[in-house]
Amino acid sequence: MCGIVGYVGERQAQPILLDCLSKLEYRGYDSCGIAVSGSHVMTYKDAVRVEKLHQVSPILNGTLGIGHTRWATHGFPTALNAHPHMDCSGKIAVVHNGIIGNYQELRQKLISEGHHLISETDTEVIPHLIEKHLDGDLVRAVELALNEVEGTFAIAVIMENFDGLVVGRKDSPLVIGLGDGEKLIASDVPAILDYANKVIYLDDGDIACIFKDKISITRNHASVQRAENQVIWDKKEVGKSGYDHFMLKEIHDELQVVRDSIDDYLVKEFDESPPLTFDPDLRDLLLLACGTSFHAGLIGKYIIEEYLGIPTRVELGSEFNHRSHIIVPSATIAITQSGETADVLMPLKKLKELHSRTIVITNVPGSTASRLADDVIYTRAGPEVSVAATKTFIAELMELYKIILYSGRISREIYEKLAFGVRQLPSLVTQVLDNEKQIIDCSEFLTHYNTVFYVGRGINYPIALEGALKLKEIAYIHAEGYAAGELKHGPFALLDKNTPVIAIATQGNVYSSMVNTIKEIKARQSPVIVLADTKCDAIESFADIVIQVPCVADLLSPVINVIPLQLLAYHTARSKGCPIDYPRNLAKSVTVE
Ligand code: BG6
Repeated sequence: MCGIVGYVGERQAQPILLDCLSKLEYRGYDSCGIAVSGSHVMTYKDAVRVEKLHQVSPILNGTLGIGHTRWATHGFPTALNAHPHMDCSGKIAVVHNGIIGNYQELRQKLISEGHHLISETDTEVIPHLIEKHLDGDLVRAVELALNEVEGTFAIAVIMENFDGLVVGRKDSPLVIGLGDGEKLIASDVPAILDYANKVIYLDDGDIACIFKDKISITRNHASVQRAENQVIWDKKEVGKSGYDHFMLKEIHDELQVVRDSIDDYLVKEFDESPPLTFDPDLRDLLLLACGTSFHAGLIGKYIIEEYLGIPTRVELGSEFNHRSHIIVPSATIAITQSGETADVLMPLKKLKELHSRTIVITNVPGSTASRLADDVIYTRAGPEVSVAATKTFIAELMELYKIILYSGRISREIYEKLAFGVRQLPSLVTQVLDNEKQIIDCSEFLTHYNTVFYVGRGINYPIALEGALKLKEIAYIHAEGYAAGELKHGPFALLDKNTPVIAIATQGNVYSSMVNTIKEIKARQSPVIVLADTKCDAIESFADIVIQVPCVADLLSPVINVIPLQLLAYHTARSKGCPIDYPRNLAKSVTVE
């Protein structure tokens, strides 16, 4: 999954393209490039980060251009495989985000027709297809070229002696930014916030021709109108606000995320109309997600079954997508912060076609998922830049609690108890963030190990999974999350003094079982780090390190317990000097299967 940008206006395009690209690096950062149309089309690209390209690229004069930052799918990250890609004449340049399924076939055909293709990429067939179809009308040529392509794409095209950008999308995100006397395109809104506060979201199959002062959008060769949307995010939100890394800034944003998520729902009375109503005859629910959002889904299942008694399945989008026999649920809730994860979008489309009611919990207004689903619940996290999801996880949990609170299916007594607990969260999150020092000390300890286990029970089993995922993602330490009760059925074999275990042992109906598990782990010589909310001799005497967290109702404990684990992964990665915001081989959301 890559990031693409484009600019047409009065100003020099190069610095603006590079600035916008630098804000898209969380989508892919193994190579990058730009093309600028001045007297002719000039390109510069290499297997480097955007910052380096900024330092080494020659001045390319022109007020029209495109750019790309790559997450390699076809061909290694090399200068040759980096985008933009050109046609034989060197007059047409293309950047692309997505995957072309039939590129081999198209490539053979083009070569047999005399085209000379030099890279290993799927993308390179596009400029050559445009060249093949070009008959004085660039938009028509792009349309004909894309008609031959099978797969997913968001593309931007410039051509010598053509004063505009031509863009098209299918199953990959693309927005047009409406600036003052200038226009921009990008894979998402945060990249162009410094230049435009109004955007147009293109639909699948749309092709837009963009000049600095006008835009025309067509679909199947017919002119269409698309709405202009005011951007709700503030450009300050996509900065680091003085923190060393986006991840640390976003962890510290979690206090505001909890406050913002509370604001609009706790002012409502118990029986006011809920934001999301479930049909009284709702038979069952399916929660669909990937990565960190999948762990939020596991907690969603726990609380929905616990409080609403609705049978709830949780499925990995990437697995469910290939299920041959689909048991269609009455309703599907897809959880996806970016709203662009292909492994979620594909099964969601299928389930919608199969008449399951589709609901999406997402953080990105205008995202593909938000426009695909019947209902949308927006999380209140603001833009998240760091590849490892942190504040969006908390925001997803808050919306899942909202589904319980306002389902119209719980008693006033449970409502009041839960609402009271939720109102405490801001002050409790403050306590956790204020206690960061104890986490930093613990992270020093962890840097000495290559394998770490995380264990939890009940509603905190998914938090053990999430803690392990964070350590894997950014500190490159092999970490496994387990349901604590499962250790004795196999994983115990791996425990020894070289395998520390992080045990989540906060109050709740599984507390005493967790204390027993901690004793069993200690009996196998493993160092034990315990996340505890109360002083308990049993734990004190067995734990090597105790991370103290404030007490909260078990149902709400995931919000409190995940933050120290996010900080632990952050500070461990920091002590190891890992590239925290841009971990190797990962991307913020993967828009290809
Ligand atoms: C991965 C990200 O690509 O996608 C993870 O690196 C994320 O952080 C996962 O949890 C799912 O993304 P989303 O946007 O569908 O929640």
